Amino acid sequence: MSLRFTPLHQSFVAEVSGVDLRRVFDEPTLAALRDGMDRYGVLVFRRQPLTDAEQLDFARRWDGTLHTKTGISALTASRLGNEALTDISNVDENGDPLDSADRRRIYGLANQLWHTDASFENPPGRYSLLSARVIPTVRADTEFADMRAAWEALPADEQARLLPLIAHHSIAYSREVLGFSFSSEERERLHGNPQPLVRYCEKTRRRALYLASHASHIVDMPVAEGRLLLRELMTYATAPQFCYAHAWDNEDLVIWDNRSTMHRARPFNDKQYRRELRRVTTLDIKPVPA
Ligand code: OGA
Ligand code: MN
Repeated sequence: MSLRFTPLHQSFVAEVSGVDLRRVFDEPTLAALRDGMDRYGVLVFRRQPLTDAEQLDFARRWDGTLHTKTGISALTASRLGNEALTDISNVDENGDPLDSADRRRIYGLANQLWHTDASFENPPGRYSLLSARVIPTVRADTEFADMRAAWEALPADEQARLLPLIAHHSIAYSREVLGFSFSSEERERLHGNPQPLVRYCEKTRRRALYLASHASHIVDMPVAEGRLLLRELMTYATAPQFCYAHAWDNEDLVIWDNRSTMHRARPFNDKQYRRELRRVTTLDIKPVPA
């Protein structure tokens, strides 16, 4: 097998060719893919016709333990019957488009806010693997932002100010911003978690801003001040030079590192076109030493 990484952006994202992920079991190839992931943060694989089981199996081979509380499962049971498999689609259990007001649709629309997966959970999500099953004929992209490049382009005094800060992330917050309301029981359950504003990866020795629309405030800072800082950073870190848009084809698989990138869905006419993808996210626990 001849693995090739073709960069798609000046600072991150590569397309990987020469591999059929259903058949990758050998450690050297997995290690080369992981190294590529560390280098690029987002990997695009074309023509990977995965079943749900193959996607789940590959995710386990790739990174171990799977996250089961990343998406709508925080609110309702998945129609797919496996909480490690997140339904990223605009259809109901019969395959019909979701009604305008359906909670699942509104929840899915919130993916249009910049975010990282499950930063509101502890542990959060590490890698997300998104597999395209039914893609509309119109563009319905996923956009990525390079949080390492954004961090590295900050002046040193700004880096020093941000380095010790802790943000609070909650899925209730990002949904409430969009007018979603929660019962007090749900709000209690979705209280959220603190996360460092800046993450360090020992393997790459690089830091990254760790931002998401789930971040509501900075711990030990007046709420308004923290919220303004988060907004400022969000605008800064998603400037065009840090961003890349992936235009989907059926059978694409895109893997991203939630520790070094943010992402968001782009809007499309979801009443007219079906769009069905499946996401598996791994749990950001310390890897077992080899
Ligand atoms: C996700 C996600 C964006 C999209 O799967 O976590 O945010 O474009 N998807 O569907
Ligand atoms: Mn997401």
